[in-house]
Amino acid sequence: MRTLVIASQKGGVGKTTLVGHLGVVAEQSGAGPVALIDCDPQGSLASWWNERAAEAPLFASVAIANLAGHLQALDEAGIKLAIIDTPPAVTDMIRAVLKVADLVLIPTRPSPHDLRAVGTTVELVEQAGKKMVFVINGAAARAKIAGEAAVALSQHGTVAPVTLYQRTDFASSMIDGRTVQEIDPKSRSAEEVVALWKYVSAQLRKT
Ligand SMILES: Nc1ncnc2c1ncn2[C@@H]1O[C@H](COP(=O)(O)OP(=O)(O)OP(=O)(O)O)[C@@H](O)[C@H]1O
Ligand SMILES: [Mg+2]
Repeated sequence: MRTLVIASQKGGVGKTTLVGHLGVVAEQSGAGPVALIDCDPQGSLASWWNERAAEAPLFASVAIANLAGHLQALDEAGIKLAIIDTPPAVTDMIRAVLKVADLVLIPTRPSPHDLRAVGTTVELVEQAGKKMVFVINGAAARAKIAGEAAVALSQHGTVAPVTLYQRTDFASSMIDGRTVQEIDPKSRSAEEVVALWKYVSAQLRKT
């Protein structure tokens, strides 16, 4: 089993959105069974999953104490991929979750404020000695700033060659427990998520 942790000290960057979307695409692409894990006390991922009609991906309710032990049990049960959602700001909790990561995906919005804030997350991941990849989320169409953000982020580490644009379906699809590809698999949002998963899964295989 591989464990992908989606983390960022900064709030509202798309962590929960990406856990749900990558989980569904991973399952559809045959990388499953996938288990999604919500380590955020806000429970947004759990609320989304509870709205879902589809059974896959699985949702695993896991206490953060003995997270490694719980992951081992999922591995023994045949789960191939665990994707973990983390809270913003709660440094100790983020640190605890990073310990179990094979790869850390850090979503970042392409704003100067978000880019300045990314350093604290990078520091945590480096302290944990884990491999990380950035992904720019919520880019505005035709805005130059996404390219500039990629250059700025590349000073810290690898940037995914796929940018997710600001699109209402990323938000609206999740209201009733779905994802963009479950609303319209041919949408541009769905294409972006599939491309991101291809890249992330290749990075995971290297770990
Ligand atoms: N690419 C996107 N296009 C449009 N809306 C988006 C996009 N990504 C995220 N959102 C919306 O932005 C808001 C924040 O996203 P999300 O909850 O995934 O972030 P988060 O990092 O998990 O936040 P928190 O730090 O509070 O846990 C949500 O309303 C979500 O629907
Ligand atoms: Mg969240």
